[in-house]
Amino acid sequence: MMITIKSPREIELMRHAGKLVSLMHQFIKPYIKEGITTKELDKLCEDFIRKNDAVPTCKGFEGYPATLCTSVNDTVVHGIPDNYKLKNGDIITIDVVIGYKGYQGDAAWTYAVGEVDDNKKYLMEHTEKALYEGVKMVAPGNRIGDISYAVQKYAEEHNLGVVRELCGHGIGRDMHEDPEVPNYGTPGTGPKLKEGMAICIEPMLTFGHRNVYLMDDEWTVKTLDGSDAAHYEHTILVTSDGYEILTPRLDGDNNE
Ligand code: MF3
Ligand code: CO
Repeated sequence: MMITIKSPREIELMRHAGKLVSLMHQFIKPYIKEGITTKELDKLCEDFIRKNDAVPTCKGFEGYPATLCTSVNDTVVHGIPDNYKLKNGDIITIDVVIGYKGYQGDAAWTYAVGEVDDNKKYLMEHTEKALYEGVKMVAPGNRIGDISYAVQKYAEEHNLGVVRELCGHGIGRDMHEDPEVPNYGTPGTGPKLKEGMAICIEPMLTFGHRNVYLMDDEWTVKTLDGSDAAHYEHTILVTSDGYEILTPRLDGDNNE
């Protein structure tokens, strides 16, 4: 796989895919309440995507069985929707990739179920802020390491663990393209950003230690120490003078 530069037509399609991702998050937010199962959330989102002439890209990807990744509390990423009923005080990350006419949009954010404790609020707020620290580094001529460093610095200054086993990525026709976008690194290193590239930046931060493990289902990634994790992700286009967020939050509830 290589780094792809998108044409104006491709950018239009990615903008639409990204907009559907934003709209789906907006659509599902009011359903994220005590008592609903993650499987029910998954079904609602799959129906929403298909009604919009789009495809749930994760479903069937390397055998992944669902539309969403629903990652609760100590699950970092790739939680498979199941019969778990959300409880007051949980946090849940909803991560989705939507394909529109062959182009992908990808965004995750973490939601509170009812009233969550101050530690969870802190984790969510600063994980989202770490994402925007990375996003602000996106401009032609800057390097991937500039993004990685900005995310890591912010996270560690706030005493959060930076999960290293998983990275952001390029995106386009495929949901995972080059380059890799790690959440830790060194300024001035790595591939150079160019106008027309699209990348996903996605810090996965923990309230405790950064170590994680893979469960026997070969998908679910959890924190080793059982601490909570949060995950925020945007699809970002590199423009002539900076960036465009292709998956903007529509709920006004962001930490940009
Ligand atoms: N948004 C996730 C990612 O960035 C989607 C992967 S889930 C999978 O990697 F099931 F499709 F692998
Ligand atoms: Co992604």
